[in-house]
Amino acid sequence: MNHTGISPQRVQALLAAERAHYTQRNPQSLALAHRAAPQLMFGVPLHWMNDWATPFALHVGQAHGATLTDVDGHTLADFCLGDTGAMFGHSPAVVAQALAAQAQRGLTTMLPSEDAAVVGELLAQHFGLPKWQFAMTATDANRFVLRWLRAATGRKVLLVFNGCYHGTVDDVFVDLVDGRPVQRASLLGQVHDLAATTRVVEFNDLPALEAALAPGDVACVLAEPVMTNIGMVLPEPGYWEQAQQLIRRHGSLLVLDETHTLSSGPGGYGRAHGLLPDAVVVGKALGGGMPCAAYGFSAALAAQAEAAKHAAPPGHSGIGTTLTANLLAMAAMRATLTQLMTPAVFAPMHALAEQLAAGLRAAIARHGLPWCVTQVGARVEFQFCPQPPRNGSAAEAAMDAELEHALHLALLNRGVLITPFHNMMLVCPDTTPDNVQRLLEAFGAVLALLAADTSSRP
Ligand SMILES: Cc1ncc(COP(=O)(O)O)c(C=O)c1O
Repeated sequence: MNHTGISPQRVQALLAAERAHYTQRNPQSLALAHRAAPQLMFGVPLHWMNDWATPFALHVGQAHGATLTDVDGHTLADFCLGDTGAMFGHSPAVVAQALAAQAQRGLTTMLPSEDAAVVGELLAQHFGLPKWQFAMTATDANRFVLRWLRAATGRKVLLVFNGCYHGTVDDVFVDLVDGRPVQRASLLGQVHDLAATTRVVEFNDLPALEAALAPGDVACVLAEPVMTNIGMVLPEPGYWEQAQQLIRRHGSLLVLDETHTLSSGPGGYGRAHGLLPDAVVVGKALGGGMPCAAYGFSAALAAQAEAAKHAAPPGHSGIGTTLTANLLAMAAMRATLTQLMTPAVFAPMHALAEQLAAGLRAAIARHGLPWCVTQVGARVEFQFCPQPPRNGSAAEAAMDAELEHALHLALLNRGVLITPFHNMMLVCPDTTPDNVQRLLEAFGAVLALLAADTSSRP
């Protein structure tokens, strides 16, 4: 028995049985995996698609609302929702209509349409920051924000929290190992010394934050207001109030990456909890599932960034991509911001997520497992530790890759999809109480299997 309260032998047995079951029930996915294998590296269009617990990729037939139908005809209740890209449901009708209409009028021009002004106004209203720019992905938005902020402040150092993820922005792949910043060994082809300009501290540790800011060379703190990518790590009461003061006192800037915490409401977690960042990044669900992202700056920061551009020699800023803010993306964001990112859409999502969290807690308690459940708006996570972890190291220590895989695959075979990374579930506007019930029943059934040999517990 390890810290998860489940015997590793039981996990391995379940994993083997579920892999066999998956292979037997997904012949069309298997055939497509075989067909793609000669042409696609790793057999999939993006190598992460092999990070699922499945022996080969599940291939999608179609996805609507909270439901995904695979090519073998199974209908799955989808709580992964494209790892947040589809947080407003698959193909939301308002976005699909806006895309269809725009598709008749041009896809990309490298020029703005009326939507640019409208989307800018909507973003300013939602997030409370006046000046905006766009990107195709949250990764790029973060990358560009770092460039702007380093240019605007003349400072080189980035400060992040241990265990963070902000997309494949190279600078953030630095971990705290025995109190020292260490570049992540798994990075491929990375030739720069990232630890030279990235400082890392634990979340919820104000003295460490202050010490890291003290040299006065930190351009910005890039943070999710709640860590969501190493399991979930909530800020302790008062943490952000004091952290913001420290950041300001040391002349640094705060960038809130709301890409996942948009689950908190129409202006993200920061708006819902009265935080005052200098910059905000939002991606994934912002275009209702279309690739687009945006970043907003305070008036003061925008003025500094614009001044940096004006002062620079003529030529490329190193910021931007050709299809950024294309006509289709702007139409998708306009529809999402006006019709999906509203309090009325979020309220039932939050209520259902609460039911889900309560049901998970009840199932965990029934089986006497030392696990906890955390919720941030429409986002729910269970972790293999009795209390919510207070930092990235504790969250990482609670993880168990084999158990996660066994659980995820067993749920999938029972008609429920959750994210392949840690144990995240997201409720969308189309999620029904029946979907939640289906997840809870499957979860309970899988826990019964996993916890079955509790007699062997010491
Ligand atoms: C907080 C956060 N920021 C940025 C990203 C990057 O998003 P994308 O992969 O769409 O670029 C992610 C992805 O998971 C994320 O969780």
